[in-house]
Amino acid sequence: MKEPARHTVTAALPYANGPLHIGHIAGAYLPSDIYVRSLRQRGKDVLFVCGSDEHGAAITIRALKEGTTPRAIVDKYHALMGKAFQDFGIHFDIYHRTSSELHKETSQGFFLKLNENGAFTQQEEQQYYDEEAKQFLADRYIMGTCPTCANPDAYGDQCEKCGSALSPKDLIDPRSTLSGAKPVLRPTTHWYLPMERSQQWVDEWINTGMLDGVKHHDAGEWKPQVLGQCNSWLKDGLRPRAMTRDLDWGVPVPLPGAEGKVLYVWLDAPIGYISATKQWAKDKGEDWQKWWKNDDTRLVQFIGKDNIVFHCIIFPILLKLHGGYVLPQNVPANEFLNLEGRKISTSRNWAVWLHEYIERWPDRQDELRYALATIIPEFRDSEFTWKDFQDKNNNELVAILGNFVQRVFVLCHKYYGGNAPAAGERSDLDMDLWSAVHGNVEEVARHIDHFRFRDALSSAMNVARAGNKYLSDNEPWKLEKTDPVRTRTILANSLNIAATLSIVLEPFLPFTAQKLRRMLGINALPWDQAFRSDLVGEGQALGKAEHLFKPITDEEIAVEVERLHAMEPQQAAPAPAPGPAPGPAPVPAPVAKPNITFDDFAKLDLRVGTITAAERVPKADKLLKLAVDLGEASPRTVVSGIAMHYAPEELVGQQVVLVANLEPRKMRGVESQGMVLMAEDSAGKLVFVQPKDIIAPGAEVR
Ligand code: 2FM
Ligand code: ZN
Repeated sequence: MKEPARHTVTAALPYANGPLHIGHIAGAYLPSDIYVRSLRQRGKDVLFVCGSDEHGAAITIRALKEGTTPRAIVDKYHALMGKAFQDFGIHFDIYHRTSSELHKETSQGFFLKLNENGAFTQQEEQQYYDEEAKQFLADRYIMGTCPTCANPDAYGDQCEKCGSALSPKDLIDPRSTLSGAKPVLRPTTHWYLPMERSQQWVDEWINTGMLDGVKHHDAGEWKPQVLGQCNSWLKDGLRPRAMTRDLDWGVPVPLPGAEGKVLYVWLDAPIGYISATKQWAKDKGEDWQKWWKNDDTRLVQFIGKDNIVFHCIIFPILLKLHGGYVLPQNVPANEFLNLEGRKISTSRNWAVWLHEYIERWPDRQDELRYALATIIPEFRDSEFTWKDFQDKNNNELVAILGNFVQRVFVLCHKYYGGNAPAAGERSDLDMDLWSAVHGNVEEVARHIDHFRFRDALSSAMNVARAGNKYLSDNEPWKLEKTDPVRTRTILANSLNIAATLSIVLEPFLPFTAQKLRRMLGINALPWDQAFRSDLVGEGQALGKAEHLFKPITDEEIAVEVERLHAMEPQQAAPAPAPGPAPGPAPVPAPVAKPNITFDDFAKLDLRVGTITAAERVPKADKLLKLAVDLGEASPRTVVSGIAMHYAPEELVGQQVVLVANLEPRKMRGVESQGMVLMAEDSAGKLVFVQPKDIIAPGAEVR
């Protein structure tokens, strides 16, 4: 394909309904950041766009849960996510929001143009309605069993387990997520996108790369799982999809007779990429149109697998029916990241939250960037474990990269007073070294261009491996005594490998690359300079021989693992907003777990107990250690995540219900021998489930 004049790179707009976790980062944001940094190093004209997705049920349901308004939710999480991205070195040209006025104007204008172009049909239809909540149920307001994979917790718009896009009527045994009630059907009128009309060209465009008789992209470059999901949709036949909703949070439908209706969030959100570009252009006094309306622009959209059909089928149909816009040339979607053997879950608080990581591991962004980049779920789901994080840090960052740089700097300080030595004549060994290094540099860019970031990072690390091998083979620390001239050449080459590393690692480890440049006394350099071998010249004053990374201990890892377990399941999602909750009373989380048998229930040994002592767990601000009398020889020790809700002295004498046969588990070094049952009250406080009258400790709860 011809080299484009510019690159518009988008990263999925995350819902502003909770903090970012490592699954989001590995799925869309780290890959896109690496890609953009690499393009920029190569002098390409790039615009990197993202923002918060602030409409849809994801937001309103969160607001109900937190007992606040959608506006308060999006304000809170937009700020939190924007800061976390920034702190983690993910720098968008603009991080916009879909609740802005400019977005409203843009998406309404887009809708009106589509309407004018005859893109919609208006249809009265029977839709599910919750008679208790008095609301039509679409998208995440309705759950049921996925017809594809039998996941009992599929949403009305998609199944997060198998990635299928769904309509509420596809669900088996639907239930309202607002009240748990069985919904009834009621008529309502909506604007539909008859996608079947676009079936033929979408199929041809996706599978051959041909669009209107012109080669648009190379279909062989699209990931198999992306093509697979699209083709499964195409095989079923594209169907009409409602583009409006009966809700009061969203972009109002700008047509007479549409009062109380808003644009479907999956119509409004992708237009958010365009309105973000407009805002960026307005702020910079630039032209926005060339980034979206010029055939010389390459649009690449980074997303997670649950977003594939929206970006590869629905959004392209909308863009084409509107007219004048480029279509994505690639949508390098990633699969999901699991955590310690389980699916990441916001509701169960099974996640590593980015902002919390940054707080607990200050100045260790690159350690996480590295660990995540090595496990980006490029073709299949992958897994983060704290142990792997430790191993990657200790065995790769410290032992390979840090060790190489450290050895070179220590020797240059020792032999040359911290000034770079001159390289003498090159031996065959030196030629081999540089050919291996430059071969790897080429590979880095080639892999990045094919969205193979794991391989790219591995090639970049091969440069450090080559440097280590060169040092070990040549042993300059021994050679100095017998051949100081050759030693100078070896260390000059080694310093220059460090300079090459500062370029090739920049997309992956920008903080480390900067530190390395400071140590070497060089500026940020463009990519082609990585093919040189003389970036650090004779006499160049070197910085101190700093350690780029430090080892992570088993204790540090144990704290993280315990913390993860302690955060769930007694405690709801990450810290709710402090202070009194304004707005409507919160609605309890929907009943969303599948039925269990009586035998399953009978396995639980639930007992009434009396708290006889309580104290804080050192260095764990959420945990209390309780002694609970169950009428046994000695009280049980129970660690409970309630320290934010109760002072220890309030608890002695309280009766509780304890899951007494839960497998003992260590938290912060304390073995917990049971779990106290708690309920969340309307203010988000955890309260004890306890008998109304005092009961003898040990009484069974049935
Ligand atoms: O899945 C999500 O988090 C969506 N908010 C992604 C939207 S991407 C785009 F279309 F805005
Ligand atoms: Zn499914």
